[in-house]
Amino acid sequence: RRAPGRPRLSQVRLSSTKAAAQRVPGREEADSKVGTRKKTFTEVQAERLEQAQRTVLINCPAKISEKKFLTYLSHHGKINSHYFYESYGTYAVVEFSEKDSIASLQDVTRTPGIEEECAVPFKSRLFTLTLKNPSTQAANQAPVHCHKQSTIVVNDLVQKLCSADSVSNQLYTLMDEYQLTEENTKLRFLACSLIQDIACAYFPECTVKPFGSSVNTFGKLGCDLDMFLDLDKIGRSPTRAKTGPFYMEYQMKRVPSERIASQRILSMIGDCIDNFGPGCVGVQKILNARCPLVRFSHQPAGFQCDLTTNNRVAMRSSELLYIYGSLDSRVRALVFSVRCWARVHGITSTIPGPWITNFSLTMMALFFLQKRTPPIIPTLDQLKDLADAEDKHIIEGHDCTFASNLNKIKPTENTETLDVLLSDFFEYFGNFAFNKNSINIRKGKEQNKPEPSPLYIQNPFERALNISKNVNESQLDRFVALARECAWILQQEDTGHSSLSNSQPWGLAALLLPSVASHCIKGKKRKRGPASERIKSLLDSLKINNANSLVNNGGK
Ligand code: CTP
Ligand code: MG
Repeated sequence: RRAPGRPRLSQVRLSSTKAAAQRVPGREEADSKVGTRKKTFTEVQAERLEQAQRTVLINCPAKISEKKFLTYLSHHGKINSHYFYESYGTYAVVEFSEKDSIASLQDVTRTPGIEEECAVPFKSRLFTLTLKNPSTQAANQAPVHCHKQSTIVVNDLVQKLCSADSVSNQLYTLMDEYQLTEENTKLRFLACSLIQDIACAYFPECTVKPFGSSVNTFGKLGCDLDMFLDLDKIGRSPTRAKTGPFYMEYQMKRVPSERIASQRILSMIGDCIDNFGPGCVGVQKILNARCPLVRFSHQPAGFQCDLTTNNRVAMRSSELLYIYGSLDSRVRALVFSVRCWARVHGITSTIPGPWITNFSLTMMALFFLQKRTPPIIPTLDQLKDLADAEDKHIIEGHDCTFASNLNKIKPTENTETLDVLLSDFFEYFGNFAFNKNSINIRKGKEQNKPEPSPLYIQNPFERALNISKNVNESQLDRFVALARECAWILQQEDTGHSSLSNSQPWGLAALLLPSVASHCIKGKKRKRGPASERIKSLLDSLKINNANSLVNNGGK
């Protein structure tokens, strides 16, 4: 079963930890450091938001001379970086070194002359570049190189995973394939910055920032773009004039609650996006949700966007996840694999409903890593104890305090490999007492459930909320049954009981096969029957569902 020369799990335990430590840091990892110090979440956000404001998005012909294109644009100023990608046509993301270059480019840009329609004259940083003489200019020109903005399909992934030399390296391979690239991250900040330009027409001091998986280190190529319209700077009082007998105050419209203010602002910004935002389509206002939002598709960037406001707690939870994801390379690798596994088996879905969400799965993985001996990541209370005065955040009465400086957090002494962690993750949740216990990453301990929801994961900041309140009993049962099945498969491989041929998917790849789901006995603990029988039926199902029949899972 094991590929010739592939070491047994017990042998790879130490060596793959070393391999992980020796992995050449990708550009993303190198960019997230200042000298030897890791950048804080706030530093990364500030830097990227500023960079996005110096950046433009240009729709251009696929066959274009890159050199001439850059020479043409550099008349407006120095270009720091650029890249091309495809999304309803070919687009270039061009970052100037100075913001003024954009005004210079806008000065020479025409408004479109459309014959039968009328253009809404909103001047943005989204342009179209055309060739003056397409027939001669594009002839003999090779298409520009485009950066990928989506993940490979699952059957290609399965094949790639099979050529790794350990389960641990399979998890790292999956993460390398799925994680956001430097280019895609830039595009996410640019899309926020383009929406900020629209909102700035009413609120010149506002910022639009990405949160959620776009920035919390757990984002997969193709994931949605959660945007936060931050109006806080406007509310901040300037230092009051100490002299003089008067106070000055703005006259402002009053509304009964912050929720109503958010709904009105989002409703109006939603209309602006719909009416003036180039490339923004399918605008839906979902204002009665717990957290009111405007959903739309940013077609040129290729993102589904959720715009919210007054959502600072979610911003803090994104920062918390950023910290956990940056502490140890095993955290992200495990979360990416568990999320991919859940998506392939329909445990998570892009459609809202009673399913477990990626956010909940991440919390479960973090909780599991807190429970290792020694723990791989600290609890939220421990991070709170490390906090400085400037880390103190009380938002709407919720204590959101934790250390933001990654360098203050002592690295773990736990050296377990991902081979062990993946298998134990499934075993742990396959046997978790969901009926009586809740998951709590603040304490790093199970607690009694305060109410009878099938799955209870305490919101780390808004402690009275269950982040998985939507999950029903049957979805939880499916998760548990699949987790047991997968723990069993990995254990069989580890003990050498598995006797499948070398060409069959193994390790993480085997867990992504549709046949895994068909073996689950709903709601029942797997019977450890004779191994040979189990393997025989597993073999049969693999024959039926060979890798080619895997669904193309391009979404999130
Ligand atoms: N969030 C929350 N409570 C929830 C759901 C979401 O606090 N019940 C916050 C989290 O900070 C989360 C963010 O809102 O990261 C965005 O939510 P969502 O898009 O559902 O999750 P992501 O983490 O972005 O994951 P995905 O890749 O599935 O979009
Ligand atoms: Mg999201």
